[in-house]
Amino acid sequence: MIRIGIVGAGAIAAVHIDGFLQFGSMCEVAAVCDTYVEKAQSLITEKNLNAKAYADIQTMLTEGALDAISICLPPNLHASVAIQALAGKKHVIVEKPMASSLEECDHMIAAAKENNRLLCVVSQNRWKTQLANVKRIMDEGLLGKVVHASFDSLWWRGGVYYDLWWRGTWEQEAGGVFTSHSVHYLDLMQMLFGMPKRVQAFIGNVNHTNSECEDIGFAVFTYEDKVINFTSSLVSHGEKQAIVINGEKASVTIPFSVSAYNSLPNGFPEPNKELEQQIHRRYEELGNLALEGHPAQLLNFLLAIEGKEALALDGNTGRQTIELIHAVYKSAVQQRPVDLPLEPSDPFYTKEGLVQSMPRFHTKGRSVENFSTSKISLGRDFNA
Ligand SMILES: NC(=O)c1ccc[n+]([C@@H]2O[C@H](COP(=O)([O-])OP(=O)(O)OC[C@H]3O[C@@H](n4cnc5c(N)ncnc54)[C@H](O)[C@@H]3O)[C@@H](O)[C@H]2O)c1
Repeated sequence: MIRIGIVGAGAIAAVHIDGFLQFGSMCEVAAVCDTYVEKAQSLITEKNLNAKAYADIQTMLTEGALDAISICLPPNLHASVAIQALAGKKHVIVEKPMASSLEECDHMIAAAKENNRLLCVVSQNRWKTQLANVKRIMDEGLLGKVVHASFDSLWWRGGVYYDLWWRGTWEQEAGGVFTSHSVHYLDLMQMLFGMPKRVQAFIGNVNHTNSECEDIGFAVFTYEDKVINFTSSLVSHGEKQAIVINGEKASVTIPFSVSAYNSLPNGFPEPNKELEQQIHRRYEELGNLALEGHPAQLLNFLLAIEGKEALALDGNTGRQTIELIHAVYKSAVQQRPVDLPLEPSDPFYTKEGLVQSMPRFHTKGRSVENFSTSKISLGRDFNA
């Protein structure tokens, strides 16, 4: 039985606990920790757990006889707590964003290696039927060579969202909408297409006056053989998120749709209904994932601990998404294209470099310790 400790008893912790509870024959949530220990205790009561509440992380790590921990803390604590837990020989799954800098990511990866423990980064949207099926269709060559893709990472949050104490500062959250929300879509981008060679970006803040960081941004990623445009927004009512993949033979979108053209002798399009139907048939054949979202990723983490599956998303993969985000920030601030990878000598490799380099769009004035509700949404489901 894998004994799990949850660190941070806020909004996302409940999602982790619900996920682990689905795999009761493999694991038990044995400890929950929060500086507001009453939040840890109330989650234990609400979820009917046989677990102990802790106010202090080190005490939980020392006393809890835990095998693994879920880090559900504000971003600036991810690296230090992960390293502390790995040093204590616990496997770690850490919420997105992996850390506040590439330097922190590298320390986390080194700690996992040194202590021979797993380091897993949450990106639950990798486990979505539409994404999995579209990836298979693309990898099987039905679209032809992919030449262009676009990502609409569109979200909406009210201004008070940034009143929570750790949100909306470079120091605590290490970024705005690219870091907090588009981290999901940038991970999907690297999953589908790998890492780009170059990025050119713009960021701004148009409607969140209690945040230092960006609430909107645009990036163009250049690959050897394709280009990707990426929109990141926190001001989009309806959150109509979408991915479009344009191949030489056909285009697919998520939410799922297909279009295919042949070329007339003059270059104008003629619908290729046969290929469209073939892609639709393949999509249906592939069927649905048995599990989606957090539960699917948590199961992979548990099976990897048991040595029965490879870890799908490790520290190196999580690091790549942080690299994409920080290359976007560098390009936006320096108003020029930026080549990847970012080297350790780059000011944007460290958190200090990032914090010093980034503009303050607004001054964070209001700050609350906790909201009156912990109800959150995880973005529009592709299936909706
Ligand atoms: N994967 C997703 O879709 C998703 C969705 C929401 C949040 N998240 C991520 O989850 C993390 C937490 O977000 P949240 O919305 O749950 O935040 P939250 O503020 O609701 O919860 C964080 C909790 O950590 C506690 N805490 C802070 N410092 C602590 C310390 N030193 N020791 C013990 N407890 C401490 C706080 O009291 C709070 O209860 C963030 O990294 C966020 O980006 C991911």
